[in-house]
Amino acid sequence: MNRLDILQRLRAARPIIAPSMLKCDFGDLAREVERLTGANAKVLHWDVMDGHFVPNLSYGPMVIERVRPLTEMVFDAHLMISEPERFLDEYLKAGCEAITVHIEAVPQPTSLLRRIRDAGRVAGLALNPQTPLSAVEPFLAEIDLLLVMSVQAGFGGQSFIPTSIAKLQEARKMLSSETILSVDGGIGAKTIAGCAAAGTDLFVAGSAIFDQSDYVSAVDELGRLAGR
Ligand code: DX5
Ligand code: ZN
Repeated sequence: MNRLDILQRLRAARPIIAPSMLKCDFGDLAREVERLTGANAKVLHWDVMDGHFVPNLSYGPMVIERVRPLTEMVFDAHLMISEPERFLDEYLKAGCEAITVHIEAVPQPTSLLRRIRDAGRVAGLALNPQTPLSAVEPFLAEIDLLLVMSVQAGFGGQSFIPTSIAKLQEARKMLSSETILSVDGGIGAKTIAGCAAAGTDLFVAGSAIFDQSDYVSAVDELGRLAGR
């Protein structure tokens, strides 16, 4: 699959509910992936944290690479790490179809974004709640995906920041219709519809899926509220 095929797959799956693997049961990863596949999730969102760019530590490319053969879902890597350029090749090798880096970690991301695209993958930029859209604006031609954080990156289970809706609306206006607009943090039954109305394509959800016993109904309900 090349970049355009991946983008086409993502667009066809809109509204996309992407389970955040930060909240899954790491003791039984294969079973979790099987359950999410059964729940008809099309994208897995991998929250990579380095204990430096964000205070928390999660997992890295070795874990992702081991899960890759277990599912056909698109792997969406959210790199909350410093110096992502040092580790990019490992995430490419692990089979991540979309790779998103933070503008706060890479203030001049052009060459890194081009490396991602040149490798045939979808290139994304993420920004934290305090970072204005003007920080990513110069690079919009270099990206396929914009990830608006609706909580400060670093932890699952935080409350959605309401001003994110206006930011998503503004982002949608700035982006071409080809670019995937994602939202991440505090997404659930109460917050997803507002984000959908603002023009969001991809909704990352951790607690709203993994805190439920039935993933099928959790993914289904979120998709319905997002306008599926
Ligand atoms: C936050 C992560 C999110 C988060 C989502 O740093 O990027 O993906 O884990 O979890 P919930 O849906 O619980 O906010
Ligand atoms: Zn994330």
